[in-house]
Amino acid sequence: MGPGSVHNRILKFSGSDLLRDLDLTDDELNHLLDLAADVKRTPEEYAGALAGKGIALLFEKPSLRTRLTFELAIRQLGGNSVFCDGPVGGREPLKDVARNLDRWVNGIVARVFAQETIEELAQWASVPVINALSDLYHPCQALADVQTIQERFGNLKGLKLTFLGDGNNVAQSLMITAVRLGMDFAVGCPEGYLPNLETVAQAEGLAAVSGASLEITHEIGKALAGAHAVYTDVWTSMGQEREAVKRKKAFRPYQVSDELMAQARADAIFMHCLPARRGEEVTDPVMEAERSAVFDQAENRLHAQKALLLMMLG
Ligand code: CP
Ligand code: NVA
Repeated sequence: MGPGSVHNRILKFSGSDLLRDLDLTDDELNHLLDLAADVKRTPEEYAGALAGKGIALLFEKPSLRTRLTFELAIRQLGGNSVFCDGPVGGREPLKDVARNLDRWVNGIVARVFAQETIEELAQWASVPVINALSDLYHPCQALADVQTIQERFGNLKGLKLTFLGDGNNVAQSLMITAVRLGMDFAVGCPEGYLPNLETVAQAEGLAAVSGASLEITHEIGKALAGAHAVYTDVWTSMGQEREAVKRKKAFRPYQVSDELMAQARADAIFMHCLPARRGEEVTDPVMEAERSAVFDQAENRLHAQKALLLMMLG
C-alpha cells in the first residue's frame, strides 16, 4: 500500500443514494477528495474492490466522459457494468424498472432529463442510485472539478471560483460543493438565467457555515475580480435545444475570451465540464491555453467516481 494510503480505511457512505450534492456529508466529501487523490496515485491498490459487483448505467441523454469514465472505473475496480440508453421508464413504470434492476445489480448510475425521474427511481430501488446528470445537478462533475482545483492550487479554502454563463445543472452542483469547502463562489449570468432559488438559498446557508462568500451578479467584471478559476459551460444544455437561438443572443457578452480571463487573477485557471462549443461560451485560444484545466477535469472524472463507487459500493 502506498504512503498516505486511505485504502484500508474507506469511509462508508452513510446515505443510500447520491441524487444531489448534499447527499454527501461534509466529512464524506472531504474523505472522497482524499480517496480520489489516493486512487489516482495508486490505482492498483484498489483493483478488485468491486469484484463480483454489477452496476447498471441508464442514460437518457448522450455522454462521452460520464459513460466512459464510469465504465472504466467499474472495470478497473473489478466490477462489471451494463449500459442501457433511451428513456428510463419509457416502456414500463419507473417503479417496475427499479425493482427489476434490484434483482440484477448492486448499483445504478442514471443520466436523466428530469430530477424527478432519478428521485422516483431511487425511491423504488433498494440498491444505491448515482446521479450522472439531471436538469438540476451534475454532482459527479463537481467532485472531479474540486479535485482538479485542489491539485492546481494545493488547497481550496479561500480560493475564488467564478462561473460565467447559464446558472444550470453544472453551475448548481459546483456552487453547492464549492461553498461547502470554503471557496468563494461567484456566478456571472444574464437576467433570466440565474441558478434556481432553492439551490441558491441552500448555498447561502452552507456559505454562512464555511465562511465562504456567494455572489450572483449580472456584472461580469465583478464576478471575475480576484477569481482563481473561471468556469463556463454550454449556453444550451441537453433538452433545451429549442431555445438555442434566444440563448446565444442572451449569453453573447459572457463568452470566456482572453479579454475576460484578463479580468481574473493573473494565475487563474480556465475550467469547463465539456463538451465545449468553441466560438460560443469559450474561444479556442482559452480552451487551448496552458491555464486551461479542462482535460485534467475530464481525467479526474475517472478518479473521483472511483472514490465515490468505493464509498458507496466497496
Ligand atoms: N462533462 C460531462 O458530463 O460530459 P459527458 O456529457 O460527455 O458525459
Ligand atoms: N449543462 C450541460 C452539461 C453537459 C455535461 C448539459 O446539461 O447539457
